[in-house]
Amino acid sequence: MSESKKSSKASLSVDGKTIELEVLESTMGERALNLSRVKAETGCFAFDPAMVNTAVCRSAITYVDGDKGILLHRGYPIEELAEHCTFIEVAYLLIHGELPTADQRQRFSRLLNIHSMLHEDMRSFFGNYPEGAHPMAVLSAMVVSLSSFYPELRLDSDKEEIDTTVTRLLSKLRTIAAFSYKKSIGEPFVYPSHKYSYCENFLNMMFRSPVSLYEADPYDVAVMNKLLILHADHEQNASTTAVRMVGSTGANLYACVSAGICALWGPLHGGANQAVVEMLEKIQKEGLTLDQVVAKAKDKNDPFRLMGFGHRIYKSYDPRAKIAKKLCMAVLNKKRLSDPMVEIAMALEERALKDDYFRERNLYPNVDFYTGLIYRALGFPKEMFTVLFALGRLPGWIAHWQEMRQDPEQKIMRPRQIYMGPAKTDYVHIEARG
Ligand code: CMC
Repeated sequence: MSESKKSSKASLSVDGKTIELEVLESTMGERALNLSRVKAETGCFAFDPAMVNTAVCRSAITYVDGDKGILLHRGYPIEELAEHCTFIEVAYLLIHGELPTADQRQRFSRLLNIHSMLHEDMRSFFGNYPEGAHPMAVLSAMVVSLSSFYPELRLDSDKEEIDTTVTRLLSKLRTIAAFSYKKSIGEPFVYPSHKYSYCENFLNMMFRSPVSLYEADPYDVAVMNKLLILHADHEQNASTTAVRMVGSTGANLYACVSAGICALWGPLHGGANQAVVEMLEKIQKEGLTLDQVVAKAKDKNDPFRLMGFGHRIYKSYDPRAKIAKKLCMAVLNKKRLSDPMVEIAMALEERALKDDYFRERNLYPNVDFYTGLIYRALGFPKEMFTVLFALGRLPGWIAHWQEMRQDPEQKIMRPRQIYMGPAKTDYVHIEARG
């Protein structure tokens, strides 16, 4: 294949036939070959396992430069958003494309409050999960159940209906998350209240009980806002792709988000925040040395990986991990806590980053390495960590779902395969088999 920079065209020759491919450019200068006509014009598919080299859409939501460690939402650097915004402002930015004015923020907060309760009949669902049910299982099932209680959007739904459904989901996910925790510890549910802000309401539903009149510390509310902002979107990651994939079939928003929650749960994706703390606990419990842990992570015959390390896109320090590491130290200082898990994490990071294996492969801590440790300092059990990631990622999923619905280039997502099974075979009757 040759490429001419001047004309922004590339050419591809297959069996002596040469076709021209358009070279697409992103606003940040990344380039992609337009392969949408390649099958029609050459008879060949593109083969790209795990979509490592494939852009599946044009998007105006989030930009990541993995080499330089840059993350922008609608153009705004994550560092500035985490420093100055509340989570719902960032949610608004992702979903509506711009930061809200004071009036818009007030209206958004009001809608979030109006829609915060769950239909009372849904309460009984929680009671039927067995003790020890993972809150991610409860979360995904409850979200898809919302579709049987609340109206679905149609393709011609107007802006008001879309706004209502979106805020309903944003608000109710928080209530479901808190209820699933209360169920898991056998305490009564605490209802949302209109007097609290988004994160304050969530902390209140999590930690208040009939015997303790918990009031969320404003510091914890601010930390919670930052953490959710760090998770708010990350362009075409596995869970967002799941949301887009399911959405491309025309399924309703609740079903799409439920699929996203299931994809997020995996330990290679959002489940890594729980897996990191479990790894650190194991190191402590078994008295493993850091050399042993690093050797295990490097051993190709051992499936163990250093959880919270590495990233498909970041080949430098994940900017979210930088913020999370700083925040983790600040939270421990503020609360005068010392957590042996944090000490192990920091020593492990230092040890791994000195190792050629990690340096050559550009493996650095990702967002999940320190966020679980902060949630732990705020009092969350580790089974809730991925639920918190889902709560933070929801605006991103919604923004991508909306963008996909409005994109004339999108249709049902349907990848191809290279069939490697047997060629056409004659049917063998059961008596003749074996
Ligand atoms: N520990 C040890 N080796 C690793 C690790 C790790 N955490 N991550 C990557 N590698 C090695 C991998 O074995 C491969 O080595 P080689 O070139 O010798 O075969 C090389 O680095 C490239 O890795 P890869 O598997 O091709 O990378 P990927 O882009 O397919 O996977 C990843 C990305 C995040 C799944 C992977 O780095 C990983 O499993 N990390 C641990 C799980 C984790 O922390 N996940 C959270 C990701 S960030 C937040 C999110 O998306 O939710």
